[in-house]
Amino acid sequence: MATPLWQKTGSKIDAKIMRFLAGDDVLLDREFFLHDIAASKAHVEGLANIGVVNADEATALKRELDALATDFRNGTFVLDEHFEDGHSAIEARLTERLGDTGRKVHTGRSRNDQVLVATRLWLKEKLAALETHCKASARICLDRAAGESLPMPGYTHLQRAVVSSTSMWFAGFAEAFIDDAWRARQTRDWIDANPLGSAAGYGVNLKLDRDHTTRALGFARMQVSATYAQLSRGKFEMAVLEAIGSALLDLRRLAWDLSLFITGEFGFVHLPDEYTTGSSIMPNKRNPDVIELLRASYASVAAARTEIEQLLSLPSGYQRDLQFSKGGIFHGVHRGLMALELLPDLLVRMQWSDVAMRAAIEPAMYATDVAIEQAVQGVPFREAYRAAAETAASAGQGRTPERSLAARTSPGAHADLRLDVLRARLGGLEQ
Ligand code: ARG
Repeated sequence: MATPLWQKTGSKIDAKIMRFLAGDDVLLDREFFLHDIAASKAHVEGLANIGVVNADEATALKRELDALATDFRNGTFVLDEHFEDGHSAIEARLTERLGDTGRKVHTGRSRNDQVLVATRLWLKEKLAALETHCKASARICLDRAAGESLPMPGYTHLQRAVVSSTSMWFAGFAEAFIDDAWRARQTRDWIDANPLGSAAGYGVNLKLDRDHTTRALGFARMQVSATYAQLSRGKFEMAVLEAIGSALLDLRRLAWDLSLFITGEFGFVHLPDEYTTGSSIMPNKRNPDVIELLRASYASVAAARTEIEQLLSLPSGYQRDLQFSKGGIFHGVHRGLMALELLPDLLVRMQWSDVAMRAAIEPAMYATDVAIEQAVQGVPFREAYRAAAETAASAGQGRTPERSLAARTSPGAHADLRLDVLRARLGGLEQ
């Protein structure tokens, strides 16, 4: 590794300690290296605006930062253990190319605000992807809720309860993913604050042009207080993981449903072959591995959230503990978004089996209809309930799933799904 930026002449660092400090940090920094470079450009412009670097120096620094981004993208520049971290690598490269001009880039900034701003930009990007995935799934759920509708059993406690429909199943997940998209949007707005210019957490004796860096990096606002910038590290990451977690909890329930519905016992849903795998020993098996991994993905997000929460038992100011928040968040966010990205296609292609679902609707599932019909005739509901319980086994006489569903007129139920309301809500998020 090149000599760390902070090593003073004469001191010697034990190699084992150095390895412990570094861990996999520099490799993790690859994830947001391009964001770190973009923020460095904005910082250079800010320095030029207050005369700390002259116009020629700013031009040279920005040109070399662009070149570094290009080299990193095409693999000519490799961010690895030669460097302590991505932040020092930027300065090392600029110094190698531009000598003293390169050494000016770090004026008025710290790796503490560098890591904050790079992470913040990365998180904003991931929340935009989260919103896109949730909206895509919501759109398909709405289309399928509005399209062909088949009767199916509705369960509570995993026991057959009342007649339901595939439209109701899809409408429920449509609204869930609209809420998740909305939460992604709100969280993005909430974290849309520029920490660059807070330096090590206490500002600097320079009139940094923080308004410029805020605008140049596309932030909605400046994170004003230099001390709050540090206090928000981890707190904002947790909010992002919660937003992703919310979508993945919905996905987990959906995957749970599917993993039951595709069993031989239910047989309600058929999935295309791509979503299943074979067994290495049992020739007869087709296993729903994809569905199971979709269901499992929430665990990685929850783990990342827990890891950060545990790290945040800290006094104010930068503490190196915070470095350990990166691995978890990258892993959790990647897992989560990969799972959500797969969902729209699965929703398009899953097929219901009308015959199996109809066969699973038993006569007693009309008992609630019978009781409520009696109540409408003036029988006190508790009495009607008791009478319907006694005759539940024959509640299906003269009834069909279609009739039961057509009468389900409470707003949000089968006969009044109000998909137009949901569509408008989703439309509101398209702006
Ligand atoms: N890798 C460090 C982190 O993620 C960057 C900031 C280092 N700052 C420091 N003062 N050692 O937190």
